[in-house]
Amino acid sequence: MAGLTIIGAQFGDEGKGKIVDYLASKSDVIVRFNGGNNAGHTVKIGKTTYKQNLLPSGVFQKNKRNLISSGVVINPKVLISEIETLRLLGIAISPKNLGIDLRAHLIMPWHILLEGSENSKKIGTTQRGIGPCYEDKAARTGLRFEDLILEDSLTLKIKNEYERKLRLLQFSSAIIPSEFSFASILSEYLAYSKILKGYATDVSSELHSFQSKKKKILFEGAQGTFLDNNFGTYPFVTSSNCICASAAVSAGVPPSFISSSQGVVKAYTSRVGNGIFPTELHDEIGEKLRTKGAEFGTTTGRARRIGWLDLPMLRSAIKLNGFDGIHITKLDVLAGLSEIKVATHYKIGKKTITEFPAYSQDLKTAVPVYESFKGFEDQDWKKVAKDGKTKKLSALPKNAIDYINFIKRELNVAISSVSVGPERDEIIFLG
Ligand code: GDP
Ligand code: IMO
Ligand code: MG
Repeated sequence: MAGLTIIGAQFGDEGKGKIVDYLASKSDVIVRFNGGNNAGHTVKIGKTTYKQNLLPSGVFQKNKRNLISSGVVINPKVLISEIETLRLLGIAISPKNLGIDLRAHLIMPWHILLEGSENSKKIGTTQRGIGPCYEDKAARTGLRFEDLILEDSLTLKIKNEYERKLRLLQFSSAIIPSEFSFASILSEYLAYSKILKGYATDVSSELHSFQSKKKKILFEGAQGTFLDNNFGTYPFVTSSNCICASAAVSAGVPPSFISSSQGVVKAYTSRVGNGIFPTELHDEIGEKLRTKGAEFGTTTGRARRIGWLDLPMLRSAIKLNGFDGIHITKLDVLAGLSEIKVATHYKIGKKTITEFPAYSQDLKTAVPVYESFKGFEDQDWKKVAKDGKTKKLSALPKNAIDYINFIKRELNVAISSVSVGPERDEIIFLG
């Protein structure tokens, strides 16, 4: 049982890319298990910032096997361009270090057009065709990665689906671009097939074989716990399951295969897109954190909404995912504030609620109750992290230590690391 999952504990963009990049150095195999190019995972190495939508964040570590499992939806154009971008930066991706499950679904041009014409604007989706692709998967009409292997079958499947989707688009109010023709989609996907079919694999079977050789397997989640299709703030969620249990379903391994799970927690909260956000800040503090933390969507560039840390959310995230530890990121962004607040619980009328309510009506009326902390000054964070190698948490300013210890006590969870900057060496590992 050598599996570890890394999941976002909030609304996504917690800094999973950075943490997965580090943990990948201690793993043999990295498996991306959900979402598609709605995700944007950032890894900063020296002066170069890499932004990945689909490739596992393990690709920056040498001699690792990176896998994309069945629950991921793949836009081949985006995947090819990501591989090409890395190639230009000197990182070679080939079937030796990347495998893609035969069962992963393909995002097709009609998914993107259909999304533009539906209710997705209300949700504030990334408009990448993610929802419509998962809809087709559930409806059993989708195309899968395996369909890229045989030209004849790809042609037939695209033809059938194109005709159905064209009728649907004509029926809706969508604007159909002139290049949306069977011939052009077919030639586009035949070209993708030539480039990508060599990556096809059976992830489940690979993972069982890695396990028998006692290899260490890291499962990389996309999005965050409260964007999960079951447990998030429905309907303002994504179309896949983001919680830890989803890794087993997507990768084709039994739940017992995954022995540990860790959460990535931003030292405050952010959210892109619409939906309830109990601790959201609408003042200059929110603005300050957005600017300092460069809180603009990695995928869409949209300004992220900002709020204080929300402990009821995190208590629920710990229960849903069974975190053995959490990685707290972006602590440095809070530096310079005179006061830092944390929502410790909610009040619903006279009732005190310590976890995220399941009933959406309760969530709407929940009023966060805050505890205040004294702020801390900006530091030379690289030096703090360097000192943290020996002094651990005590390398941090005193008020920051109080903040971290309070979170640890309230959540009753181990703190695995505290990140104080985007770069690889700006982090203190605590065990
Ligand atoms: P992900 O989707 O969870 O991988 O997160 P994103 O990459 O979308 O957003 C996290 C952003 O924060 C990226 O720009 C990271 O480079 C950056 N980041 C990660 N950790 C830290 C940190 O500790 N401090 C600061 N200032 N930035 C960080
Ligand atoms: P990473 O992996 C933040 C949000 C969208 C929208 C909702 C549904 O980088 O943390 P979708 O396009 O998935 O149908 O949009 O989910 N969303 C994310 N927010 N980080 C992400 O990924 C996200 N992926 C989707 O903004 O509110
Ligand atoms: Mg992101």
